Amino acid sequence: MTTAFDPIDLAGLPLANRIAMAPMTRSRAYGDGGSPTEAMAEYYAQRAGAGLIITEGTQPSLVGQGYPDTPGLHSDAQVEGWRRVTDAVHAAGGKIFAQIMHTGRIGHPVLLPDGLHPVAPSPVRAAGQVFTGQGMADFVTPRELTDAEIEATIADFATAARNAVDAGFDGIELHGANGYLIHQFLSTNTNLRTDAWGGSVDKRVRFAVEVARATADAIGANRVGLRVSPGNPYNDIAEADPHDTYPALVDAIEPLGLAYLHVVESDRDLTLRLRKQFSGTFILNPHTAPRPTGVSEVDLVAEGVTDVVSFGSLFLANPDLPARLAAGGPFNTPTPPPSTAATTGATPTTRRCPRKPGTTRPRFLPGSGASSRSRPGPAAALGGHGLVAEFADHVAHQAAGQVEHLLDEPGLLGAGGRLRLDRHRLLRLRGLGRFGGLRGLAGLGRGRGLGGFGGLRRGAAGTGRGSGAAAGVCTGRSPSTSRGGRSVGEPAGRGASGVAPPE
Ligand SMILES: Cc1cc2nc3c(=O)[nH]c(=O)nc-3n(C[C@H](O)[C@H](O)[C@H](O)COP(=O)(O)O)c2cc1C
Repeated sequence: MTTAFDPIDLAGLPLANRIAMAPMTRSRAYGDGGSPTEAMAEYYAQRAGAGLIITEGTQPSLVGQGYPDTPGLHSDAQVEGWRRVTDAVHAAGGKIFAQIMHTGRIGHPVLLPDGLHPVAPSPVRAAGQVFTGQGMADFVTPRELTDAEIEATIADFATAARNAVDAGFDGIELHGANGYLIHQFLSTNTNLRTDAWGGSVDKRVRFAVEVARATADAIGANRVGLRVSPGNPYNDIAEADPHDTYPALVDAIEPLGLAYLHVVESDRDLTLRLRKQFSGTFILNPHTAPRPTGVSEVDLVAEGVTDVVSFGSLFLANPDLPARLAAGGPFNTPTPPPSTAATTGATPTTRRCPRKPGTTRPRFLPGSGASSRSRPGPAAALGGHGLVAEFADHVAHQAAGQVEHLLDEPGLLGAGGRLRLDRHRLLRLRGLGRFGGLRGLAGLGRGRGLGGFGGLRRGAAGTGRGSGAAAGVCTGRSPSTSRGGRSVGEPAGRGASGVAPPE
């Protein structure tokens, strides 16, 4: 029987196990023009025990950026920065794909240089707001891409794929999920075009197919994966026909021979259908509402549901996750939910996992606590519903990244440990101050001012020391929870199971 701990050949690339680290935006690319930092190299190398690491979303072009301090793959400095990351992961024995994410309408002009404006298949504004680094702002109505611009955007994806290989990546994942540009072409509420790129299912899947074709031509199909999230409403997506769209998409990409299809699951029946259709490796980020993917999902490989399982939040709080999964735990829980943290300080949030039933409910994504998967976290603190909850989780992570950046800056502390705040820093702090109303709800700022945020460096924002993303992790063993990167009830620097603790 094949288990998640067995190796697998990913289109010629040997993976040590079938546990993937799901892509997670961290907003830590503070280097030149969105280039990765040493902290990112450390963070990814810590997680090299994954059979495959898929990086955070990485923009293929300036206009493809939708959040502050996300990395790019469109300049020499970015390629250099990423090389440090891939070298560190390879030195630690890992394999790493870059997720190429063009955010399309999800973003804001203040995040873009040179008067650029977010673009999309059609001028349809997303409901909600984005954290800009200087506070929250409503999404704007995007500019509709012209036919020539669509071709240029496809070429940008291909260039980014070549850059990824130059930077030492083992391959790339195309982000066709979660309401970003490729998903905006797939979806009926965001693609209102009547030309060759919209209308019928075949025309709506065309952009995804052409991006896949162009990147496969650029670096080889065996180095390209595609991530999709059929039926997921994150980022104000409303798909009328996921049971038509995604089988058609998989039919269309099948001849390309891509390395893998990575499905963010909403509906187990559709998952099984897509898996049957796709002849390459199948990676599943299973639907596990109301908790993050946990130890019971390891069995999905042995059960034949998928070839590889991807874990998101749990990988943030447990850099050595595969070893912990193999041992059955214990697991550091990402930052405890504010409701319990406020009263007990650190209530264990670990519990036994119920068997996951098949389901058709939309799944949770960061920032989507409202309309999809609801778990104890910022969204729950906000009532679990409504537009505010919709972006609270993601905002928390964006802000945490900003604070970490600020705290890491050389020269922040002057003589006697006094803070040196120039105008630029003050403006950023003011933006974060506006965000401050949310931080308590997000369970991030239990202290005050910078001191409170300082806790983030060892919690939500630290390089691999927790996430602030979720709680309610299931284990088959005794509860453990983490605060400040340490398992509560355990001495610092030692995990109860003998498994190396997160750093
Ligand atoms: C902090 C955070 C950032 C994320 N950023 C991305 C991203 O950049 N690209 C992406 O495809 N999914 C992103 N996701 C979604 C995850 O890949 C994953 O689908 C989600 O967390 C659910 O999996 P889990 O239950 O294992 O956490 C993010 C999730 C989190 C928690």
